[in-house]
Amino acid sequence: MVYTRKNVSTLTPSERRRFVAALIELKRRGEYDEYVRMHMQYSVPDGEGGLRAAHMTPSFLPWHRRLLLDMEGALRRVDESVSLPYWDWTRDRTSTAVPWTEDLLGGTGRRSDRQVMTGPFAYQHGQWTIKEGVTDAEYLMRDLSRSRNPIALPTARELKTTLADPVYDTPPWNSTSAKGFRNKLEGWGQGSGAVSWRNHNRVHRWVGGHMATGASVNDPVFWMHHAFVDLVWSRWQLMHRGARYLPAKPPGPGDAQRGRIVARHEKMPPWGVTPEELEDHSTVYRYV
Ligand code: CU
Ligand code: CU
Repeated sequence: MVYTRKNVSTLTPSERRRFVAALIELKRRGEYDEYVRMHMQYSVPDGEGGLRAAHMTPSFLPWHRRLLLDMEGALRRVDESVSLPYWDWTRDRTSTAVPWTEDLLGGTGRRSDRQVMTGPFAYQHGQWTIKEGVTDAEYLMRDLSRSRNPIALPTARELKTTLADPVYDTPPWNSTSAKGFRNKLEGWGQGSGAVSWRNHNRVHRWVGGHMATGASVNDPVFWMHHAFVDLVWSRWQLMHRGARYLPAKPPGPGDAQRGRIVARHEKMPPWGVTPEELEDHSTVYRYV
């Protein structure tokens, strides 16, 4: 049965409650932290050697699609009515809008140490202790909109420009690819600092705290953010009929990216699935 993923702003109070309860149950079992670890393990930047499956790479989109399916499967084994909601950050743009409410994700962190104090994932409520952080802190951290150095979420116009690129990805297939939908959406831009963070990357920075680190999966907003990024990939496919994942073939001998990226028919670790197998999700879930 094909299930739906909904906009988080349309969830009923009971759907919100069930989604939160399923996350907390996976956390209690220790399963949630396995996803945090897996994501950290695959956070290889393009300045380092080795295969890049998750970031700064063409397979950014299929790799995260597969990660989301894993998490969603785990949530649905706890409660089969649950699916991952998406957060459309071009519409819900303030730090008090959905999903930052008391009954969903709670709000921003307090000023002194960025500790989230409200909602089900506040450390003080005892259900969300950080085990795999980048510091020793056991509490979830956020700094919505970067209070000390404010930035805005990406706009609908910026996303539209990104969607208009008809080519999936371009050489050198990394964070410096100036053309191609994938890097425009992943968001490694020109320059340094805040101006260089686009779309997906900018949202991680806007949330701040754990979301701005390799341990971003600790914040449940990670799933809603990436569900929206995943939806944007589907939207791009609809706009550019027949446009496929690139590269179709692995880079040739002598190419600096040889062995460092995943071509359309190659297997992605840790699952052994190919980007091609993940291009169409319509038999599994759809967005409403
Ligand atoms: Cu990631
Ligand atoms: Cu991300």
